[in-house]
Amino acid sequence: MPRRLGSSAAAAVATAAIVALAGSAAPAAAACGAGLSACGAACYSPATYSCVNGVLCPAGYSLCGDACYNPASYHCSGTALLQGAASGGNGAAATTSAAAAAATPATGSSAASGAYKVVDNFSGSTFFDGFSFFTAGDPTHGLVSYVDKTTAQNGGLIAAGNPTKISVDTTNVVTGGRPSVRLTSNKSYNAGTVFVVDLAHMPFGCGTWPAVWLVGPNWPAGGEIDIVEGVNVNTNNQMTLHTSPGCTVNTGAQSQSGTNLLTNCDATANGNSGCGVSDPSTASYGDGFNNAGGGVFAVEWTSSAIKIWRFARNAIPSDIAGGAAVSPSSWGTPVAHWPLGSTCPASFFSNMQIVVDDTFCGDWAGNVYGPGCTGGSGMAACNYLVANYPSRFTDAFWSINYIRTFSA
Ligand SMILES: *[C@@H]1O[C@H](CO)[C@@H](O)[C@H](O)[C@H]1NC(C)=O
Ligand SMILES: *[C@@H]1O[C@H](CO)[C@@H](O)[C@H](O)[C@H]1NC(C)=O
Repeated sequence: MPRRLGSSAAAAVATAAIVALAGSAAPAAAACGAGLSACGAACYSPATYSCVNGVLCPAGYSLCGDACYNPASYHCSGTALLQGAASGGNGAAATTSAAAAAATPATGSSAASGAYKVVDNFSGSTFFDGFSFFTAGDPTHGLVSYVDKTTAQNGGLIAAGNPTKISVDTTNVVTGGRPSVRLTSNKSYNAGTVFVVDLAHMPFGCGTWPAVWLVGPNWPAGGEIDIVEGVNVNTNNQMTLHTSPGCTVNTGAQSQSGTNLLTNCDATANGNSGCGVSDPSTASYGDGFNNAGGGVFAVEWTSSAIKIWRFARNAIPSDIAGGAAVSPSSWGTPVAHWPLGSTCPASFFSNMQIVVDDTFCGDWAGNVYGPGCTGGSGMAACNYLVANYPSRFTDAFWSINYIRTFSA
């Protein structure tokens, strides 16, 4: 049975045509009736479908492994369906929900079990295509001026490539805020997704507050998952959830190598500290991470848990390095593990977008500014440094090999 149709409406039409001929040998075209053609054992209307290697796909679509796809929006690498037309480069482009639906194998197709297949590959020359540039005031009250794409390009703050570099202004004394970039993925994601972020370098230094994170709508209603985050001259990465009231960590069900900080994830409690987990390795953040050549962070989000792994550059699992499909169950104990369910409803996380940013001072870096940094302590000292010493921020850049998403 053809089962690779991309939309339920198309599938219904095709199924009707096929049922009439079920069990018969491949019919001659004439047996299909006026205006219909044969595709294997199925009859179809060429106005609506095309027959690709014996498989019915919507007209104009091509076949990639098990999936029909629209070549205007996707391309096929081996059997992996990647976003972006083949001529569009590396396939980082985001897409419409209609095209996304067309790329989804229909029910009954032979998706790999236990593995997640690549969906988005944000990398190379098209890295920024799937992201929007956030230009509003920093919700965390940093001394930052988030610039739009044109301004970032003209100011030399962004350069897509291998790797993609995202910097902050390192030349100007400022009053309003230091120019920086905050990206938000156009697409949003739900449970059943793996996110992999390969960083060659992350922003570091006094006054900085970089993060790679996921956030749902109407914060904190849609939840927040902080994957890479820290401030100033921190040495250890902190991974944190922030949620609506009613989510605490089921510590008895955790299996992780990291250390719990607070265990109430409620964003309205404890000054929005959330439920954090500290990575025990000083190669997980800032200078230590950068000097080790960076590494890979991977998040598996299912309806039963959120897990984060970090891999050193020389210990990246082969499925992650390959990039077409990943099996988190083969990665060993995660550094952070938040069970979802009885103490923290899975419904507290939904429609999450990927965010990459680097702000300055503000609610976290400013409040704890001091140790290891110059000019005193606290918010005012932090802001003074950020406003007046642009050359202190030459290490405050992201160097991103890729960000990939995978779907079950
Ligand atoms: C992502 O959204 C921005 C607008 O915020 C838009 O300029 C860009 O074209 C979108 N990217 C894609 C691939 O649709
Ligand atoms: C992602 O895109 C890069 C080009 O920027 C390419 O080299 C790589 O093979 C792609 N990976 C996957 C899994 O599609």
